[in-house]
Amino acid sequence: MAMTSAISIFRFHLPLLAICLASIDAILVAGCYISIFSFGDSIADTGNGIRCNQFDDVGRFPYGETFFHHPTGRYSDGRLIIDFIAQDIGLPLVRPYLAGTDDGEDFTCGANFAVGGATALDKKYFISKGMDVYWTNNSLNIQLESFKQLLPSLCSTDCSNRMNEWLFLVGEIGGNDYNHAFFQGRSVDEIKTFVPDVVSAIGSAIEELIKLGARTMIVPGNFPIGCIAIYLTRFQSDKREDYESETGCIDWLNQFSMYHNRLLLDELGHLRQRHPNATIIYANYYEAAMAIIRSPKEYGFGESPLAACCGGGGPYNFNNSAVCGNGAEVCSSPSSHISWDGIHLTEAAYKVIARGLLGTYTTPPISQSCPKIQRYVLDSDYDNNSASS
Ligand SMILES: *[C@@H]1O[C@H](CO)[C@@H](O)[C@H](O)[C@H]1NC(C)=O
Ligand SMILES: *[C@@H]1O[C@H](CO)[C@@H](O)[C@H](O)[C@H]1NC(C)=O
Ligand SMILES: *[C@@H]1O[C@H](CO)[C@@H](O)[C@H](O)[C@H]1NC(C)=O
Ligand SMILES: *[C@@H]1O[C@H](CO)[C@@H](O)[C@H](O)[C@H]1NC(C)=O
Repeated sequence: MAMTSAISIFRFHLPLLAICLASIDAILVAGCYISIFSFGDSIADTGNGIRCNQFDDVGRFPYGETFFHHPTGRYSDGRLIIDFIAQDIGLPLVRPYLAGTDDGEDFTCGANFAVGGATALDKKYFISKGMDVYWTNNSLNIQLESFKQLLPSLCSTDCSNRMNEWLFLVGEIGGNDYNHAFFQGRSVDEIKTFVPDVVSAIGSAIEELIKLGARTMIVPGNFPIGCIAIYLTRFQSDKREDYESETGCIDWLNQFSMYHNRLLLDELGHLRQRHPNATIIYANYYEAAMAIIRSPKEYGFGESPLAACCGGGGPYNFNNSAVCGNGAEVCSSPSSHISWDGIHLTEAAYKVIARGLLGTYTTPPISQSCPKIQRYVLDSDYDNNSASS
């Protein structure tokens, strides 16, 4: 009997889901989104960067050790926020665009354009300011161009009706625009002048997606960069007033992240006014991360929440000359650390953040646009889903 009903559900949904026959789970659970398209940087990169940029460290152990048991190009020990979102919806993990289709897989369940190191602004912006962009050329614009090239293969006619059922993740992006500037010695006052340009690049990308037919997008803000080991190491100071007393994070850097997030929120407000039919969801990565950093033990993390799991020593276990994947030691228990490699977070931290997005850290709440998303998480055990790279 059970078998028959499963088959009839399958048949019933077939016309709708023929485009993404992900798994029985997806067939039973889907109903909100049938695919995910993602743009961004290393926070969401599921394997593009190792195919096009110069960070080969991420292609080596211990990257990937926890969940995939091999490096996949994800900048973590395991799954990223985007992986948890995909699993919450019942979709397969989002395939990196640069993986191509040579292996017989295609992009009918979505595509991920995020590239580690990517900036929101194009390289020429930084060149014009006398800076170099040495990580990747794959800016948000270039990622959007790739999406437009792919689009005709996904829907030749009636694209905007089809795109109703696609979820777009636009970001996190912009963090590297500032990383480049901070690590090339620019002052925070100068870097603040880039923020309106970064935010406007993100806004333009969203606007363009809406014009193409996108209906629902999640737009994350920036993380609290003053809590990130690479920043804590580089901008270490003797002045107590530079630090937040509660967390030990660098206050002025966190203020900077909040400034970016405020301008991004304003931009999203304008976009919502101009496009009342689009659902533009802000994902508050800042507060979702701060909640863990303020009360690490409450979430199962250890005593020193700012130190990296995989690093080359020093007060925050970050050393530029001995980085993760290239000379660093890895801790024995990544799941009790928030920071993975001093720049990116552990799977354990990303999981808490992803769950936070289903709760209070999205505006409007994701659960409002997709009520089933929450039920799936509660009913099922993530970690038993089949994993792919
Ligand atoms: C970026 O583009 C320039 C010129 O097209 C090229 O020489 C360079 O190798 C590219 N850099 C990366 C990291 O892809
Ligand atoms: C918004 O949706 C309504 C109802 O579906 C439709 O009538 C209207 O044309 C849409 N507006 C835009 C700008 O797409
Ligand atoms: C960073 O790593 C290099 C190379 O292993 C080492 O020589 C140096 O002492 C380390 N610095 C700190 C602060 O641990
Ligand atoms: C996964 O499934 C197995 C067998 O059904 C079960 O024993 C285990 O508790 C589940 N959870 C995890 C996290 O593996």
